Amino acid sequence: MKILITGALGFIGKRLFSALKEQKHNVLGVDLVIADYDDYIRADITYFEDVWKQFKDNNGFDMVIHLAGEVGRLNGEEYPQRMVYVNEIGTLNLIKMCLEYNTKLVYFSTSEVYGTLFDEKEVKEEDFYVLSPSRVTNVYAMSKLFGEGLVRHYVKNYGLLAVGIRPFMVYGPGIIASRYKSAIDQFVYNALKNKPFTVHKGSERAWCYVDDFVNGVITIINKHEFKLGTYEAYNVGTQEYIATEDLAKLVLELTGKPSELMKIVELPDKFISGRKRFSNEKLRALGWQQSVPLREGLQKVINWYKGMVENENSSNRL
Ligand SMILES: NC(=O)c1ccc[n+]([C@@H]2O[C@H](COP(=O)([O-])OP(=O)(O)OC[C@H]3O[C@@H](n4cnc5c(N)ncnc54)[C@H](O)[C@@H]3O)[C@@H](O)[C@H]2O)c1
Repeated sequence: MKILITGALGFIGKRLFSALKEQKHNVLGVDLVIADYDDYIRADITYFEDVWKQFKDNNGFDMVIHLAGEVGRLNGEEYPQRMVYVNEIGTLNLIKMCLEYNTKLVYFSTSEVYGTLFDEKEVKEEDFYVLSPSRVTNVYAMSKLFGEGLVRHYVKNYGLLAVGIRPFMVYGPGIIASRYKSAIDQFVYNALKNKPFTVHKGSERAWCYVDDFVNGVITIINKHEFKLGTYEAYNVGTQEYIATEDLAKLVLELTGKPSELMKIVELPDKFISGRKRFSNEKLRALGWQQSVPLREGLQKVINWYKGMVENENSSNRL
């Protein structure tokens, strides 16, 4: 297939790009950075001209995998205008060009769209239809929910062929830890630096190693049946649930650091869900299964951060 990946230089985009290349797809990646990488072009998805040019120059694509966007809860609270603009206008630009060139669209949403429904039940894909802006807990979730709403609208009313992906807690080597990033990144990085880190009491998640996640996306691309007029989405993640306190203890065990580094605090009453229980049955029905257990994936992340911390010790992180 001829595939366009937006957000190709991001954490997931980079791996998906390589995995699709390995499968001999003809892949073009776009992202914000100006660079001479192979099969890569700079394009800002909020500029219609940038998006239009890629379609025109390549005589369209068979599929667009749309990962580009502003990502993360805290990011959305601190930069809401940028988040809403990029995630809505960028998505709309891609929808318009996909319609023009009869291109399938794979839209990246987030598990966050389920919002307060996590407090009530194990969520399923079709729960999308009871979701609303008043049910989500942060601007990021709102921007992705509206993005899904747009995609569904163009599927229902204009003949767009599309599928949605709702990633759950993807982790792996390659992220620069900060307060904008996941608990795994913050725990590992701080532990290796011998710095204390906070852990939310009562919180629980199931983490998905990035290679398993990319396999999930490829499974969907290969096996999902795109139907005219029907919008569907898939929860993509594992069911290896772990209390966040236990995750922190595991990080300390694997890094050999003392338990005093872990500071347990109450779960904030805003912007975040305590537990995220969900069904991944729909993805498993396509033949997908987890292959990297948390302990193994965590060790890979730790090894990666060890290299980073060593570099920082010999230079200076800003
Ligand atoms: N990583 C996760 O656990 C997770 C969870 C839920 C949802 N997602 C979704 O998956 C997708 C990929 O996530 P990620 O973790 O790789 O994030 P990431 O931040 O690493 O990658 C996003 C990429 O989009 C690019 N981008 C931002 N604005 C752009 C624009 N205007 N034009 C072109 N490119 C632009 C960024 O430069 C970046 O490379 C995102 O849509 C994200 O919301 C990820």
